[in-house]
Amino acid sequence: MKYSNFLWASTFAAANVSAVPTPDADGKYTLEAEGIKAQFIPYAATLTNLFVKDKNGVERDVVLGYDNTSFYPVDPGHPVYNAVPGRYANRIGKGTFKIDNVTYTTVKNDGPNTLHSGPNNWSYRVWEVKSASDKSITFHLSDPANSTGMPGRVEVDVTYSLEKNKWKIVMDATSPDAKTPIQATQHTYFHLDAFAKPGNRSIWNHTLHMPHARRVMEADANALPTGVIANVSKGAIDDFWTAPHQLGFASGNKNFEDHCGGGCHGYNGNWAFDGDRDKSDIAATLSSAWSGIKADLRTNQDGIVIYTCNWNDGKTEFKSTQGIKGQDKFIPRDGCVAIEAQDYVDGINHPEWGRLDKQLFGPGQKYHWESSWTFGVIDD
Ligand SMILES: *[C@@H]1O[C@H](CO)[C@@H](O)[C@H](O)[C@H]1NC(C)=O
Ligand SMILES: *[C@@H]1O[C@H](CO)[C@@H](O)[C@H](O)[C@H]1NC(C)=O
Ligand SMILES: *[C@@H]1O[C@H](CO)[C@@H](O)[C@H](O)[C@H]1NC(C)=O
Ligand SMILES: *[C@@H]1O[C@H](CO)[C@@H](O)[C@H](O)[C@H]1NC(C)=O
Ligand SMILES: *[C@@H]1O[C@H](CO)[C@@H](O)[C@H](O)[C@H]1NC(C)=O
Ligand SMILES: *[C@@H]1O[C@H](CO)[C@@H](O)[C@H](O)[C@H]1NC(C)=O
Ligand SMILES: *[C@@H]1O[C@H](CO)[C@@H](O)[C@H](O)[C@H]1NC(C)=O
Repeated sequence: MKYSNFLWASTFAAANVSAVPTPDADGKYTLEAEGIKAQFIPYAATLTNLFVKDKNGVERDVVLGYDNTSFYPVDPGHPVYNAVPGRYANRIGKGTFKIDNVTYTTVKNDGPNTLHSGPNNWSYRVWEVKSASDKSITFHLSDPANSTGMPGRVEVDVTYSLEKNKWKIVMDATSPDAKTPIQATQHTYFHLDAFAKPGNRSIWNHTLHMPHARRVMEADANALPTGVIANVSKGAIDDFWTAPHQLGFASGNKNFEDHCGGGCHGYNGNWAFDGDRDKSDIAATLSSAWSGIKADLRTNQDGIVIYTCNWNDGKTEFKSTQGIKGQDKFIPRDGCVAIEAQDYVDGINHPEWGRLDKQLFGPGQKYHWESSWTFGVIDD
């Protein structure tokens, strides 16, 4: 749909003529299917709430976010809660890259590097609602040339849809005028117990299994890949492939404390999936024994970033849909896990990895990202 059509649709939506659902008083769009309900806002194309049933049939809101939708844009911490960062997610080393021998610079906003494309990134914009129904919503953004220091205008659509027990995410982007880096993700933060497990809100007892994640990027103290792609051996801190492991399973290991650099313990790393895996296979399963909820990720992406929320300062509150009535709502350090399917971090600066055709897009080329999360209970 062209922009003019979008205007047409929104005019009619405003006049209450079209079938486009209107957001609720908080600005949220609600989608529903059997066993699942999800809510979204146009700011950063954000998922605000995701309700699925636990092993006792109790509905749990399993993602992080705020009750107050007006707080997302002004939150000084801005953790990119369940948003779409772009146009180049995660880090760009030293805030610079080259395309066909021309050097571009991006704003360094994460130590010496650029994170999530720096200022004016996609996760700080209000996206257009291009279409919506009770099962699906499509957000659109037109990202002007050079808005993040990168050449060429990018047109991007993100479609979220629900089916029975399943949340599906599809992103399509083009850069019609010039070759530019494109690397998107859905930066989803999970807590499968919805902070309702008595006594302990940390994420360490959630279990992760990534059977095809046999390689991991070595990274420096700023979580920037050095270029070395290491094999993960059985029982190593990054081993989630030989068997399912609790996220805290390696917490006694010597290097766990500074494992993600700069005093960051736990995970903020990038794994590469086996190149020959069947992309319809489950890429990752996250589960928690307490709620019994498990979530299976399928994706067309070749890598994944896992972050166990080391940098939570303990001052942010979770939502009124979470936790235990009468208790405080603070999310502790290590109180969540972000799971981001994407291509290799900083691949634009590592031609030796052979990722340029997955990360640079120009006239006539199409970027396509696709993932789904299927929810169930353990031993389903
Ligand atoms: C929601 O957040 C906005 C922006 O910070 C603030 O102005 C408003 O007072 C908040 N509303 C409530 C109900 O807390
Ligand atoms: C880039 O520069 C190198 C070295 O000067 C040259 O060999 C190469 O042909 C150039 N590539 C392009 C695409 O211009
Ligand atoms: C994204 O852009 C906003 C608005 O320009 C900026 O305040 C923010 O710091 C940027 N995000 C990151 C992660 O740098
Ligand atoms: C791109 O933006 C940067 C930062 O705003 C500016 O310094 C630079 O001149 C711009 N480049 C072009 C080609 O417009
Ligand atoms: C919660 O449990 C984890 C894993 O067993 C442990 O490392 C952590 O210290 C506990 N936190 C609290 C506040 O009890
Ligand atoms: C978390 O897991 C650890 C290691 O398996 C276990 O020792 C601990 O009891 C668990 N903690 C909770 C609160 O379930
Ligand atoms: C990883 O293992 C593969 C296959 O066993 C081997 O070819 C490769 O050299 C190893 N990579 C590293 C960095 O050791």
